Amino acid sequence: MTSPEACKTLTKPKLLMTRVLSPATIDRARRDYDLDLNEADVPFTPEELIARAAGKDALLVTLADRFSADVIAKLDRSVKVIATYSVGHEHIDLQAAKARGIRVAYTPDAVTVATAEIGFLLILGAARRASEGERLLRAKAWHGWQPMQLIGRRLDGKKLGIYGMGKIGQAIAKRARGFDMDIHYFNRRPLVAAAARGATYHATLDSLLAVTDILCIAAPSTPETRGSIDAAALAKLKPGAIVTNIARGDLVVDGDLIAAVKSGHIAHIGLDVYTNEPNIHPGYYDLENAFLLPHMGTSVIEARDEMGRDALDNIDAVLAGREPPTALV
Ligand code: DGY
Repeated sequence: MTSPEACKTLTKPKLLMTRVLSPATIDRARRDYDLDLNEADVPFTPEELIARAAGKDALLVTLADRFSADVIAKLDRSVKVIATYSVGHEHIDLQAAKARGIRVAYTPDAVTVATAEIGFLLILGAARRASEGERLLRAKAWHGWQPMQLIGRRLDGKKLGIYGMGKIGQAIAKRARGFDMDIHYFNRRPLVAAAARGATYHATLDSLLAVTDILCIAAPSTPETRGSIDAAALAKLKPGAIVTNIARGDLVVDGDLIAAVKSGHIAHIGLDVYTNEPNIHPGYYDLENAFLLPHMGTSVIEARDEMGRDALDNIDAVLAGREPPTALV
């Protein structure tokens, strides 16, 4: 005879969690679902993903899981929803999911503050040469205070060019106001005055780049934005400009950015995201004046718990026949 506990498990919807998420997220998932957790915490190959998704009602996935049209076509018919634990969703072919009748949802609200904080760390880290200073100290090569050592830039009065004024761009702008920066932005559409709060709108990326002292890339990866920060775009920045990226690596043409730093046209860079993570362009490792972080924009427990909460809320809604709060398709 089946025990009541086993019966309860059998009746729970089946959920695949493709990576080890925060303890609160795992606890809730175990409570409400028959959970298949990727305890190894190593990204699945497409074949493994398809195999582990078999028989599951819902998939709680991350940006490391590639849902191409081919993978989606091969998913078991049992799969009703893919909830990604991210705001970025370029790893999922939304049209293919829609065509298969699979709902897709993301976590756009949970990541804003954490990502904006790292965005500001990149701005400060690049402008004040934080990693160069730390390397000098740790190498035991610091011989004491020196007037002209590691000279950086102040932020006040500088023009901060925000490329992509969504939630994260606006949160960056809010922090920049506290540093007395002059805020400019490029977006598909201007914000309403209450949201822009005095920031200057540019109708084209070129127009933004021409005035920018410090560029903050905060736009999503789309066919329109990919590769948009190339040699021609970088040449439009003022000599000595700073470039930071908290969005996605593929907005930048790495070779062009590295060449612009080497030529001195770009003075410093601060990056948290890269094309082809974790196998980033090797040229970055050799740049002294680069403040480089390993895609940790949302790496705080508050964001991780909220991302898990929002992802599970989306899954709960789809499986209960309700509209998911933050649906993509
Ligand atoms: C996102 O949410 O897209 C971040 O890059 C990872 O949390």
